[in-house]
Amino acid sequence: MEEAVNKVIDESRQGEAVVLSSRGEGKKLYIESYGCQMNFSDSEVVASILTKEGFSTTRNVDEADVVLINTCSIRENAETRVRNRLTEFKKKKEDKPEMMVGILGCMAERLKKSLLEEEKLVDLVAGPDAYRDLPNLIEEVGSGQKAVNVLLSRDETYADISPVRMDKGGVSAFVTITRGCDNMCSFCVVPFTRGRERSRDPETIVEECRELFNKGYREVTLLGQNVDSYRWNMTSKGEIKDNSKLTTNFAQLMEMVALVSPDLRIRFSTSHPKDMTDDVLEAMAKYENVCPYIHLPVQSGNSDVLKRMNRGYTREWYLERIAAIRRIVPDCAISTDIITGFCDETDSEHEDTITLMNEVKYDYAYMFKYSERPKTLAERRFEDNVDDGIKSKRITEIIELQTQHSLESNQKQIGTTQKVLIEGKSKRSEEQLCGRTGRNSMVIFPKGEYQKGTYVMVKINDCTSATLFGEVVEEIPPAK
Ligand code: SAH
Ligand code: SF4
Ligand code: F3S
Repeated sequence: MEEAVNKVIDESRQGEAVVLSSRGEGKKLYIESYGCQMNFSDSEVVASILTKEGFSTTRNVDEADVVLINTCSIRENAETRVRNRLTEFKKKKEDKPEMMVGILGCMAERLKKSLLEEEKLVDLVAGPDAYRDLPNLIEEVGSGQKAVNVLLSRDETYADISPVRMDKGGVSAFVTITRGCDNMCSFCVVPFTRGRERSRDPETIVEECRELFNKGYREVTLLGQNVDSYRWNMTSKGEIKDNSKLTTNFAQLMEMVALVSPDLRIRFSTSHPKDMTDDVLEAMAKYENVCPYIHLPVQSGNSDVLKRMNRGYTREWYLERIAAIRRIVPDCAISTDIITGFCDETDSEHEDTITLMNEVKYDYAYMFKYSERPKTLAERRFEDNVDDGIKSKRITEIIELQTQHSLESNQKQIGTTQKVLIEGKSKRSEEQLCGRTGRNSMVIFPKGEYQKGTYVMVKINDCTSATLFGEVVEEIPPAK
């Protein structure tokens, strides 16, 4: 789920980290993030590493000494957006040559030195596994050298780093549980930019969630490219456990986090249809605070396309997993990702995506036109041969269908009463609050005396395809 959002670190976060070194003292850091939730989460790790060096953070790029841009390579337009932004920074540097500009994340990993040496757009390049090295890299640039670290690691999980949260007094936070991806879906650049899959020590995950709860957070989203393949089989001393009963899988991790507090909501992303097991669904059904919502990307409704995509499941397998969700977590909301116009996709293969959507009736979907990415299996094996006009026609068709399904899904909620976690003021009006249901629908309701970070029961009275509207019928006191 790539998001076109710039998020900057709140200046008011300074001072929370312990300054261990003074290399950044008096210097201001500005970070901008693009791409998936994982990137936003990584920017918080970066902020933590650099505030420990004495840097303070700023929301204003014009007062920054160091500007870092955390980037995404998932589709070509994600990279184009970053290039445009880097060109703007380059212009700023004409008036302020001492300002350092660094690129982080997936584009840094994919393009390595070229943005620095050939295109001369940046002073520093750091890949997703190199953030601990940032203080050194910044120092190198300061002494007139070019600084690049794009080494991928087999074991870096930043497990011991407590991220500096972007939104002070926030309600919802991301917690990374795995990094990298071993799946090699043929269209996808992530395995090349993020490296091999590795899981993070469960004790550090639970500890981070507990700390967040104690700071007032009421929702955590456990993040990984494929959360269902989470597996930890190390002892705290770093030895491999030989007894499989001692390993921790995703269902067990979910239970451990659910037990932090009944008032801490648990979400997770992304589930993979080939790996999502019934024990994960059973753990969801068992704990009221694990939200009944699954993001289960299908990509295509046709088994031949899925095979070319190297997704590891068929249409039938996917539909069986949907049936398992409906059976074990009956009122679960389901969303998906769909790619249209993948290599050789025919009209009838596209039609299979439409019939699958009609069968599943997703509550929400993220839909993309196929964008060929360098080095991927699809780029090497197949031709990006679906005409852009046809890709556009197909994506318009699925977006229209999904909008109708989202509206129907929301209309079904009218008349029900749902538990909502209040996230804050509604964007549209000072008089309204907004929050989410467990099923992840956004609800807007009159503000009354209700507080951000608390739970209320809201009766749903109206909706659009994107939002529910309601009124509070009951406040829910904190759990004992
Ligand atoms: N790990 C997650 C998603 C990662 S990327 C998963 O496996 O589902 C998020 C979404 O971007 C993907 O689900 C896919 O729908 C889309 N995507 C990835 N590569 C793409 C490409 N080359 N062109 C278009 N969409 C792409
Ligand atoms: Fe990409 Fe597939 Fe891994 Fe998701 S599971 S990140 S789509 S390779
Ligand atoms: Fe983009 Fe990298 Fe995430 S390519 S979607 S930022 S893992």
